[in-house]
Amino acid sequence: MSVASQVHPEYNYKVVRQFAIMTVVWGIVGMTVGVFIAAQLYWPALNFDIPYLTFSRLRPLHTNAVIFAFGGCALFATSYYVVQRTSQARIFSDKLAAFTFWGWQAVIVSAAITLPLGLTSTKEYAELEWPIDILIALVWVAYIITFFGTIVVRKVSHIYVANWFFGAFMLTVAVLHIGNSMAIPVSFFKSYSIYAGAVDAMMQWWYGHNAVGFFLTAGFLGMMYYFVPKQAGRPVYSYRLSVVHFWALSALYIWAGPHHLHYTALPDWTQSLGMVMSVILFVPSWGGMINGIMTLSGAWHKLRTDPILRFLIVSLSFYGMSTFEGPMMAIKTVNALSHYTDWTIGHVHSGALGWVAMVSIGSIYHLIPVLFNKPAMYSIKWINVHFWLATIGVVLYIVAMWMSGVLQGLMWRAVNPDGTLTYSFVESLQASMPFYFVRFVGGLFVVAGMLLMAYNVYKTIRTPNEEFSNAPENSPQPQAA
Ligand code: HEM
Ligand code: HEM
Repeated sequence: MSVASQVHPEYNYKVVRQFAIMTVVWGIVGMTVGVFIAAQLYWPALNFDIPYLTFSRLRPLHTNAVIFAFGGCALFATSYYVVQRTSQARIFSDKLAAFTFWGWQAVIVSAAITLPLGLTSTKEYAELEWPIDILIALVWVAYIITFFGTIVVRKVSHIYVANWFFGAFMLTVAVLHIGNSMAIPVSFFKSYSIYAGAVDAMMQWWYGHNAVGFFLTAGFLGMMYYFVPKQAGRPVYSYRLSVVHFWALSALYIWAGPHHLHYTALPDWTQSLGMVMSVILFVPSWGGMINGIMTLSGAWHKLRTDPILRFLIVSLSFYGMSTFEGPMMAIKTVNALSHYTDWTIGHVHSGALGWVAMVSIGSIYHLIPVLFNKPAMYSIKWINVHFWLATIGVVLYIVAMWMSGVLQGLMWRAVNPDGTLTYSFVESLQASMPFYFVRFVGGLFVVAGMLLMAYNVYKTIRTPNEEFSNAPENSPQPQAA
């Protein structure tokens, strides 16, 4: 990879540092809310009869915090870093970059205030009301100008493939957000979508699925294509495959949205089209996963000693798992069983916790010493502990949800010889309870790991360089060029 031999012009690391630190902070906040709502599903009294703490209001707070605050800050941090390094140019505009940082934090704080107050557009993953939507659009346009501006002023002719993924993520999210959020305001806090009925549903899941495809996937693939080779100290397994991966993924994802609306009022042919495109999507997804994992060819032994690399490679395994499961769930007959059940929740978290969170955590561990000019993270041992806490936590979470989901699906469809239902809904809920407890425990593991990460980051920043050899079981790790 040509990016390894770089000179050091004056990069803007300040904005990268800010976003990197906030990734850890919002990760803890968002996942703690996740654990709290997981606890509420087991102990419903935990809403204390306070409207602001009800599951219905905290659930969107969780999804917004983990996707847009945690995931978003990780994407801003890594894309700003990667575009500068691979372009060998300082970020296009420091002022615009600073605006994106403060603007994005303002969006997050507004979400954290309005969602518990019950102010919502009711569109999943697009719940925020119109004034916040306008702020998001402004920040996003500034982000696009800053990122692509840096590409324009680059000092190398090649545009490294990670930037293609980051670029596609930014452009598509702009189109999705603006398209889906079109609404008529009736007051400062309330608006109504300009779309109605089945068209509204279609727009919403065109947005929703591509939020998965471009926010939760393409952007993080950009991260993967830079940090996996860097941490492994190896070039990407096949650069040609990465380009095919990019075009195939971009061409296919955009058609798959209707798999969220099987057996609804949507025209049947659109459902079938969504299903077929989703099944084909398996191919480029696995191409990308294999490309990432095979980058370790000749360096597999590093997995024994480098927990950061383990985070990155295990995240790719979860990516492979969720992109096998997704196409399968998109098949209408499978979806007839999985839809509305906890199976979907298991799928979501194998993608979101296993893939998105773990690739971000690995990348941030790689970045922190570089950004703060330290020889390594303060404790490699603690990163290893974090790795196991995260892995065990995610496995507990998703296995519990798979079991609960399949059980629910089977109980709901079971019928007696006379045609009546075998089980009432409450019976299926009771059967799910043990799995909700296991999910809650899994979540505790994940949050414990994040807290350890925060302490490790703090110690890394605070410890003077000469004292690093005293840190618990520390050994220098490969650094970015
Ligand atoms: C400690 C870690 C986490 C815990 C304990 C947790 C817990 C939960 C719970 C209890 C729900 C509601 C499930 C339901 O309605 O039945 C949920 C939904 C969701 N979470 Fe998490 N979560 C965690 C981390 C994450 C992360 C890191 C992401 C994304 C990057 C994420 C994305 C989502 C999404 C998208 C949903 C909505 C799923 C749907 O509507 O189908 N979660 N989470
Ligand atoms: C080839 C790739 C994928 C395909 C074809 C796919 C397909 C599906 C299907 C069929 C559903 C269930 C829809 C329903 O019954 O309501 C679903 C839900 C979901 N998937 Fe995937 N999936 C893929 C990858 C991923 C990845 C990598 C992530 C996360 C990073 C993810 C996140 C989600 C979320 C958040 C939902 C829940 C949406 C909601 O109802 O709120 N998916 N996906």
